Amino acid sequence: MDLGLKNKVAFIAASSDGLGKAVAMELANEGATIIINGRNKTKLENTRNDIEQAYNTKVLAISGDLANSEEREGVIKTIFSHYSTIDILVTNTGGPPSGKFEDLSMDDWNNTYKLLLASTVSLIKAILPGMKDQHWGRIIAITSQAVKQPVDNLILSNSVRASVAGLMKTLASELGEHNITVNNVMPGYTKTNRLLSLIESNPSFKSAIDEIPLKRFGNPEEFAAAVTFLASERASYITGTSLAVDGGWIKHIL
Ligand SMILES: NC(=O)c1ccc[n+]([C@@H]2O[C@H](COP(=O)([O-])OP(=O)(O)OC[C@H]3O[C@@H](n4cnc5c(N)ncnc54)[C@H](OP(=O)(O)O)[C@@H]3O)[C@@H](O)[C@H]2O)c1
Repeated sequence: MDLGLKNKVAFIAASSDGLGKAVAMELANEGATIIINGRNKTKLENTRNDIEQAYNTKVLAISGDLANSEEREGVIKTIFSHYSTIDILVTNTGGPPSGKFEDLSMDDWNNTYKLLLASTVSLIKAILPGMKDQHWGRIIAITSQAVKQPVDNLILSNSVRASVAGLMKTLASELGEHNITVNNVMPGYTKTNRLLSLIESNPSFKSAIDEIPLKRFGNPEEFAAAVTFLASERASYITGTSLAVDGGWIKHIL
């Protein structure tokens, strides 16, 4: 199947490692033009080199903390100093701290709002006018299986990510007439540094394998394949969906 991704310009937020990096690699593999981002400049440069060498392409790497409004504005400005329009936007950041309700402060809640919801809203706001002008766009949010089934000890993620899912579903209705699809992809337990650090801080995360029908954690490449399909021309009639890539962990019928 030709995914029709050649020369599409894709900005993958928070993509110097983990799920975002895997998505950037797969989109590059399909011939898309890639823009990556992360806070740590050395890690970001290494990822840029990895993608450029693997796919013989040029990658734009823009450092900046997407939870910080000033830095985020800087990232957006740099994007538009290189490209007039972004065809594919993948929103993402690192995850919020783990913990139960009484472990967490109001600052933790406010910071999680900035990290998960404000970053998503403002990237979409910036990139939307160009997508509308060209009557084509793909907006994909990386959220979590926690949107459909709360994960123990992750109350911040369970609560605030649901608002991102609500945003995506609503935008799918609002933007359909502009031929812009809006989807939410929910990773399950996937082998990245985020999962390793959750397991380190709370070994009970490791036993989650018993609750996964496929009896293993996912690989970032398996997640990236789903995102890449949704970003493609071939997914032109899929919008407003929440797709789990979770090895079957979520326990609901539909
Ligand atoms: N892996 C899983 O099992 C799993 C499951 C469900 C949901 N999720 C969620 O999916 C998202 C990605 O997870 P992951 O496993 O890929 O995490 P990861 O391995 O920790 O990678 C996160 C990436 O995002 C960058 N980043 C983090 N915070 C950022 C920020 N504020 N601004 C810009 N870049 C930022 C990191 O680089 P720098 O640190 O240099 O910025 C890194 O490149 C997270 O929100 C996570 O909670 C993951």
